[in-house]
Amino acid sequence: MAGFWKKWFGAAEAKTARLLPFGIDVEVPPQQTLLEAALAAGLAFPHSCTVGTCASCKCRLVSGTIKPAMNFGYTLSKEELDAGYILACQTKLTSDAVLEVDAAGADAPPPETFNGKVTARTPLTQDILAVTVALDRPMRYVAGQFATLRVGDVPPRSYSFADPPERAGRSEVSFFIRRTPGGAFTEPLFAGAFDALPIEVEGPHGGFFLRPGDGPMVCVAGGSGLAPLMSLLLDARKNNIRRPCVLLFGARTRADLYKTVEIETLAQTWLADFRFVPVLSAEPEESTWSGHRGFVTDVLEGVLPSVLGEDSPRAHAYMCGPPPMIDHAVTVLTKAGVDIGNVHYDKFTDSRPHPTSSGEPTLAQAR
Ligand SMILES: Cc1cc2nc3c(=O)[nH]c(=O)nc-3n(C[C@H](O)[C@H](O)[C@H](O)COP(=O)(O)OP(=O)(O)OC[C@H]3O[C@@H](n4cnc5c(N)ncnc54)[C@H](O)[C@@H]3O)c2cc1C
Ligand code: FES
Repeated sequence: MAGFWKKWFGAAEAKTARLLPFGIDVEVPPQQTLLEAALAAGLAFPHSCTVGTCASCKCRLVSGTIKPAMNFGYTLSKEELDAGYILACQTKLTSDAVLEVDAAGADAPPPETFNGKVTARTPLTQDILAVTVALDRPMRYVAGQFATLRVGDVPPRSYSFADPPERAGRSEVSFFIRRTPGGAFTEPLFAGAFDALPIEVEGPHGGFFLRPGDGPMVCVAGGSGLAPLMSLLLDARKNNIRRPCVLLFGARTRADLYKTVEIETLAQTWLADFRFVPVLSAEPEESTWSGHRGFVTDVLEGVLPSVLGEDSPRAHAYMCGPPPMIDHAVTVLTKAGVDIGNVHYDKFTDSRPHPTSSGEPTLAQAR
């Protein structure tokens, strides 16, 4: 009888996932996702949210068939989908498969939980704070990664480290946090309600960090998305990285730009050509602003030819900010010849529901 079921319902058998470039085979039982099976096998498979929103577990399906538990298009761009990228945390295998995993994350320290306390909240703009949290012990992370902050019963939220890491770890970590009107986490944070409370910092998480190479770096930040880019660029400078770089920073008005002095200093001390391009989307017509106006992605399209020259296949892009900005920028970059595998980002996704593969909404951000 068991043979009958096995013959007709072969999909119920475990499948094998071969993970490149490691060449490791993982057995994936039918009830487990690819990520769950990889973690159960003791592999440090990159991941964070496990609910399909952060794209940390993004990998490329080289061969085989899968059953997605959600519409990957919510998190991944059309270009990534066309290139075969999937989310391991939302994938079951329906055949043996070969997958390409980004090996760059192998050096990232494993996540741990730290006990912290808010020691400073410094306004950067009218709705962005620099928040410093002192930790019970030093935390190691890779520039560009993020942590999940938890205070009591408030739903936990993710924030990117704004400072470059230190080799021995940082006893104080800082974040640039934008106030979301009505936000479960940011409203009490901005009101000072977290100042006297213990804060749990879990991390580091994420696969957004500098990749090796010598081609141009194209960096795009929107609002508080400047945090991981400052961390990454300051760390790159510390490590004497010598690559041409352009940083586009999108904000609404002049008053929403911040850290410009630090960016100018970075530009002056950078070991190759560094261009800083602030872009304002809602600066009043009558203001004396003579820089770029409009959406940062439109300006990106205009500056790319001069930044990339003949180097587009060797270029890497690093972007952080709201999902629509990232989605549009991915299209602009790939159209300009940047390899989709060289486009790295953290989308600042929020707690709104996103559709499953069957169209049913599901609560995305359990963090
Ligand atoms: C990997 C990662 C890194 C992140 N890093 C940062 C960071 O460094 N700095 C930072 O400020 N944020 C960052 N975020 C976003 C952050 O995690 C929270 O989503 C954000 O602070 C809102 O939390 P909240 O609880 O205050 O609002 P919520 O209670 O989640 O939202 C309140 C209401 O506003 C809506 N809403 C939330 N955000 C938006 C939006 N952008 N546009 C329109 N409506 C919205 C929600 O759907 C909800 O209805 C990051 C997110 C991710 C996934
Ligand atoms: S771990 Fe899969 S999308 Fe976040």
